[in-house]
Amino acid sequence: MSTLSEKEKQNYLNQLFEFLELPSISADSRYKETMEETAKWLSNQLINSGCDSSKIYSTNGHPIVYGEKIIDESMPTILVYGHYDVQPPDPIELWTNPPFKPVIKKTDVHPDGAIFARGACDDKGQVFMHLKAFEQLIKKNKLNCNVKFMIEGEEEVGSENLESFLRENKDKLGANVILISDTGLSNLNNPTLTVGLRGLAYMELKVKGPNRDLHSGTYGGTLANPINILSDIISTLIDNKGKITIPGFYNDVIEIDKSSRDLIEEKSNFDEENFKKSLGLELVKGELGYTTLERKSIRPTLDVNGIWGGYTGEGSKTVIPSEANAKISMRLVPNQDWKKISELFKDHIKNITPKSVSIEVLTHHGGNPYVTPENFKGYKSAINAYRDSFGKDPIPQKDGGSIPIVPMFENILGIKTVLMGFGLDSDAIHSPNENFGIKNFFIGIDTIQNFYKYFGN
Ligand code: BES
Ligand code: MN
Ligand code: MN
Repeated sequence: MSTLSEKEKQNYLNQLFEFLELPSISADSRYKETMEETAKWLSNQLINSGCDSSKIYSTNGHPIVYGEKIIDESMPTILVYGHYDVQPPDPIELWTNPPFKPVIKKTDVHPDGAIFARGACDDKGQVFMHLKAFEQLIKKNKLNCNVKFMIEGEEEVGSENLESFLRENKDKLGANVILISDTGLSNLNNPTLTVGLRGLAYMELKVKGPNRDLHSGTYGGTLANPINILSDIISTLIDNKGKITIPGFYNDVIEIDKSSRDLIEEKSNFDEENFKKSLGLELVKGELGYTTLERKSIRPTLDVNGIWGGYTGEGSKTVIPSEANAKISMRLVPNQDWKKISELFKDHIKNITPKSVSIEVLTHHGGNPYVTPENFKGYKSAINAYRDSFGKDPIPQKDGGSIPIVPMFENILGIKTVLMGFGLDSDAIHSPNENFGIKNFFIGIDTIQNFYKYFGN
């Protein structure tokens, strides 16, 4: 049950479709102008939804869209953060519909229909819920706090220019809570509320061997093959118990005691069978001594995201490559520091690389983990808001993903964050056929309005 009329629902979906039709791919420089176009579109929408003013701030990368409505300086202020940039859609051939031509289709998970498009869930669809919740509150004359919107265009590439924006605009961004919908929940019947995000350290390895690609018959057996060496290195980074072998990696990890862990497991409605089924897997695998839910939320991880080098074209080519490369990311948990972990990673890789090759280790970007404190008004308002919308209390749960700017809201602006996400694990964010349930979209709009009800005066 949504508080919106059928006409409003249709209108909002049409507007969201316009947003989704703009290919705002931050990672790809060919879309620089589209990023600007999207920022303009969003800025206009902020005004249409009821902001008194909106401004587009250019950065060294993609622009930040800002808008605000200040009704009374003495009232509480909500700062809504989100991102209008999306991940590249490739592999494009696996999409059943073009990624920037949104369509609604019914699925097993979403029998009422889901919007299929890149960014439908991450994060355009979820950002748009905030504009419409705000619009509704104004329309019903129920807006009871000041609202600021800060929607960036570089979240998917590390938010590197947002940090300086925060430092330069501390006063302007003053607020009592940061509200974000850029995460997910378990399901609509027994929803979870995200209370934590993992941190991230994103690294790249470049292994160099001979000064050119070589005939593997003439030279094979006489020198170190960079791909073999890179594989050796990678294979040692996780041991047979699923532990990461970088010395000092776990030093700062706050171990959660067994009784709290048991309580989390008991309260959770995580369905392991369904998890496996949804991924087409027979078995799960990970750090020994931890459950799947723990492995995807409260434990740090290391994964190779990409590996390349040598001949990968059609047929065969007998060659010893002159170089091999890999991108490796680590997910971090409280109290690990991503810069410290990046340094430990670098030192370790250099120590274990044999002299027969040379290696370069690059740090791309990263961010620290975040935990929402449970004893402040923002958190309590979220719990109440979910209770009103879903008819039951949400289960607090940490999410495995990362939003690097969130800990900086606390460190730079001194503001705590509430994560009210409405996506599902099965929404295929970052994958082909990303989608967002229509029901999720509308219940999000309602729940956000409920949040204002409890948070404002
Ligand atoms: N919205 C996601 C983060 C997320 C997804 C949190 C699911 C919790 C559950 C965000 O857009 C994202 O993709 N973040 C990146 C990090 C970024 C630096 C590229 C991530 O988590 O990989
Ligand atoms: Mn996101
Ligand atoms: Mn994302």
